[in-house]
Amino acid sequence: MACLWRTAAASFSFCVLVLLVCCAGSCEGVLNMADGAATTMRAVVQTETGGPQTMSVGSVSRPKPGQGEVLIKVMATAVNRADTLQRQGWYPPPAGSSEIIGLEASGVVEIVGEGCSSKFKVGDPVIALLAGGGYAEYCTVPEGQLMPLPSGFSFVEGAAIPEGWLTAYQLLHFVGSVKKGDYVLIHAGASGVGLAAVQLTVAAGAIPVVTVGSPEKLASAVALGAVGGANRHEGPWIDTALKFTDGKGFNLVLDCVAGSYWEQNAQAVALDGTWVLYALMGGADIDGPLFRTLLKKRVTLVGTTLRTRSLDYKRRLISQFTQTSLPKFSSGQFKVSIAKVFPLDQVADSHTFLEENKNTGKIILQVHDGAQDKPQPQQQQQQQQRVDL
Ligand SMILES: NC(=O)c1ccc[n+]([C@@H]2O[C@H](COP(=O)([O-])OP(=O)(O)OC[C@H]3O[C@@H](n4cnc5c(N)ncnc54)[C@H](OP(=O)(O)O)[C@@H]3O)[C@@H](O)[C@H]2O)c1
Repeated sequence: MACLWRTAAASFSFCVLVLLVCCAGSCEGVLNMADGAATTMRAVVQTETGGPQTMSVGSVSRPKPGQGEVLIKVMATAVNRADTLQRQGWYPPPAGSSEIIGLEASGVVEIVGEGCSSKFKVGDPVIALLAGGGYAEYCTVPEGQLMPLPSGFSFVEGAAIPEGWLTAYQLLHFVGSVKKGDYVLIHAGASGVGLAAVQLTVAAGAIPVVTVGSPEKLASAVALGAVGGANRHEGPWIDTALKFTDGKGFNLVLDCVAGSYWEQNAQAVALDGTWVLYALMGGADIDGPLFRTLLKKRVTLVGTTLRTRSLDYKRRLISQFTQTSLPKFSSGQFKVSIAKVFPLDQVADSHTFLEENKNTGKIILQVHDGAQDKPQPQQQQQQQQRVDL
């Protein structure tokens, strides 16, 4: 009898559990319908930090725009080296930012949050600099970090702009104060940041020289305006690089390598030159008399990161870039280089491709169908008028 009772009780508990799960499912359905929109979205998730295979596409809550923010339907996003560090647990997002990886996006304005100006409207095609959250179907972004998608550009092409170009613009103009006629040394000259820096250097009337990892990458940088450069796999690059400056040295060194290049950088930098440190791909440690060079040559050594800058700094940077540089994409003066486009489901492969240094320019993740499309020019003209106001 006791045994029968236990069986009946267990069946009852199971039925209650099934009922609760069903209820929860249908309640969620009711909530979704009541909202008039889905409350979840597909996004890249991780259950643990580590290699590329720790990432997969799962279902998460769709973000809601806060005060002064916009919700974007993400058409495409791009892969950055910083994403690989975040994936491994070495580069957590700034406080208050999305935990989802992804520093940039192109897409369409879905909701304009409270407290925004009337610059951007629902349906506008945009590109955005993010502190996180790009590897997802939707993301929120402060309005000041939006830019119009350049006319004639697809969403895939637009996704190649924000992080690389704004970083390069910041390095050259906000931090390095590049001047006409300056010799500028650009390491990783065929990377996303590197190819943007080459073109922005030329636009500033300065002379870009690169270091890269293959003859093909050197050719890509030269095609976009570098006067020449050195292949880092052929031994020390310093003598080859200095020849392009007639031995005078570089007024500005854009350094994302650091440790393994420090001695050559110390030789490369000119008297009164500026050395901008913005990543540590060659390590963070040095062992030698760096300070002697800094003192003798009166070098300004400055470190910088974009992601952790204040909202006001990013707004100023983006505003200046929008006015001075964004029109040059539509006119054809500035070109984006896209190494490869992966569907979001293949996010792990996209990170492996990047970590094997196979990319010349940007790696794009296509998030929604239609990312290769170009929006209607008429729609963009109306938007442009509002942004120009
Ligand atoms: N501080 C900031 O605000 C900021 C913002 C954006 C990016 N970054 C950093 O800037 C760097 C470039 O970014 P990205 O997204 O343009 O990179 P990317 O497209 O991933 O390209 C990086 C390239 O650097 C070269 N490289 C890799 N390891 C190297 C090493 N140990 N020594 C010398 N060169 C090496 C490789 O090119 P080759 O095959 O040509 O050698 C590689 O393809 C990254 O380190 C990134 O984290 C910093």
